[in-house]
Order: sequence, then structure tokens, then C-alpha cells
Amino acid sequence: MIEDAPAKVNLHLHVTGRRADGYHRLDSLVVFAGASDSLRVGPGEGVTLGLGGPEGGALAAEPDNLVLRAARRLAEAAGRPLPGAALHLEKRLPVASGIGGGSADAAAALRALDRFWGLGLGAARLEGIALGLGADVPVCLASRPALMGGVGEVLSPAPRLPAFGMVLANPRVALPTPAVFAGRQGAFSPPASLPASWPDAASLAEGLRGLRNDLEPPAIALCPPVAAVLDALDALPGTLLARMSGSGATCFALFRDAAAAARAAALLPAAWWRWGGAARTGD
Ligand code: C5P
Repeated sequence: MIEDAPAKVNLHLHVTGRRADGYHRLDSLVVFAGASDSLRVGPGEGVTLGLGGPEGGALAAEPDNLVLRAARRLAEAAGRPLPGAALHLEKRLPVASGIGGGSADAAAALRALDRFWGLGLGAARLEGIALGLGADVPVCLASRPALMGGVGEVLSPAPRLPAFGMVLANPRVALPTPAVFAGRQGAFSPPASLPASWPDAASLAEGLRGLRNDLEPPAIALCPPVAAVLDALDALPGTLLARMSGSGATCFALFRDAAAAARAAALLPAAWWRWGGAARTGD
């Protein structure tokens, strides 16, 4: 079986506070892109992970790989001996890049192995395991647009979204999430107040314009090329809004439709990782 692991994009990301354990409270509208990794699961001896794809070289299939950690946690939760599983991850999303590639892969492993092993653990238990693997893993489990609160574990339905196109661009600099959070300065932001729906891509972009990604300033301080990526996205024909996703360095731009996004992505420097296509809005 093959499980899709789509890139997550934070359309806005407000840091609303900080917990005693250092984790930050967030308010974020999360959507998923057509860009994805894919995870194949088949019978095997023990649980093994093979890596392929254009971005696979950046990862090592070592025991602390998030996919293997997800498999171990699931096996612990099952509490009984399980048959072997040979996993193969086709890695197309850049690693450590703010679009949740590792989280999406871990979530895909939870979904696929729950089915492969016939565990039927159910959404609540899978979500609990997901949160133990990382703050972004629960939202990736459903891979549907969602409003994210808490440190990532409080999920509620997103406003109704129009169809829209999206370009993703990464300057090929990995940004460590903890360093970006640690560099954030100033007052916390209030949660965004969002309408129940947006009629079209232009009004979505307009609505997001008054919001922000609070991690953009610290990410740019650590990685100045992020500012160049945002400028390049802003300058593309048809860009409605450009912003950074997560803790960076991947930035995104919104477009009227997938075709406009695909045409625009081809105009970005070939040295960058870039993608253009449809957002998965659930319609
Ligand atoms: O949970 P995850 O492993 O993705 O988080 C990586 C790091 O990012 C954490 O150790 C923490 O420094 C920071 N983080 C945070 N608040 C969040 C999510 C992540 O401070 N809500």
C-alpha cells in the first residue's frame, strides 16, 4: 500500500504564548499542498526503512528517523507481537523546511501501519501517539485544512476554503525549528479571528493580509535568503500573497488557481526547491 504524505502550509501562524516547558502556544490556519512524500508499506523481516526520491539523500534511515519512531510507538500501543513491515519513503519535500515533511511522513506511517497491521486504534489514540512524535504530527494525521491551537494538539475545523493555487519555494537552507522559536522577540499575538468562509482566492489572500507568521522575523535573522524568497514570490505574475510557512525556510504564495501557480513556479531560480499546483482545500 502507498500512503501520501502532503506538505503542510501555515497560512498564518501567530505565537500566542509560551508554556512553562518552553513550548509555544500557536494559532494557525493549516492547509495541505499537492506536493507530497509517499510511503510504501509491504511485508518484511522486522521493521525496516528504505529511502529514495530527490530529497532522500538528506535523511538517514537511522533508528531515530521519525517514520521508524512512529512505527515503534504504534507497535508499543498495539501491545502484541506484529508481523514485519518493509517501509520505503519516497522523499520529495525538503527536510527541516517548515512544511512538515517529517511530520507528514510520521503521520503517514501511523495511518498506513494501523491499516497494515489491522490495529484499528481509532483517531483519538492515533492523535495521542502523533502528538508524542511532534507538535505538527496531529494535524498531518488528518491532512485536512484545520485551525491549530495549543502547541499543535488542539485541532478544529478550518473555515470553508475556496479552491486556490499555491507556489512553494525553499532556498535550500535547513532551518532548525528550536532556534527560530528561540529567536522570537516582543509581545505575543492574539489569536486570529476568521470568517466562516472566503468566497474566492483573492478574498482569502485579503483576509490573510492582516495576519502574519510571527516566526518570519527570527527566521530571516537566522537565514537572510528567506527575505529574498519572499521578494521573489511577491514579484511573480499573479501572486496574491507571499508568506513563510512554519519555522521556514520554505515560503509560499497564493494564486487564483493551480495553473497560474504552476506557471509562476517555473519562473523561480532553478537552484531553489520549488513547486506550484493546487492546494488541497477539501472541495
Ligand atoms: O514538536 P517538534 O519536535 O516539532 O518541535 C521542535 C522544537 O520546536 C521544540 O523542541 C521547540 O523548541 C519548538 N516548538 C515550540 N513550540 C511549538 C512547536 C515547536 O517551541 N508549538
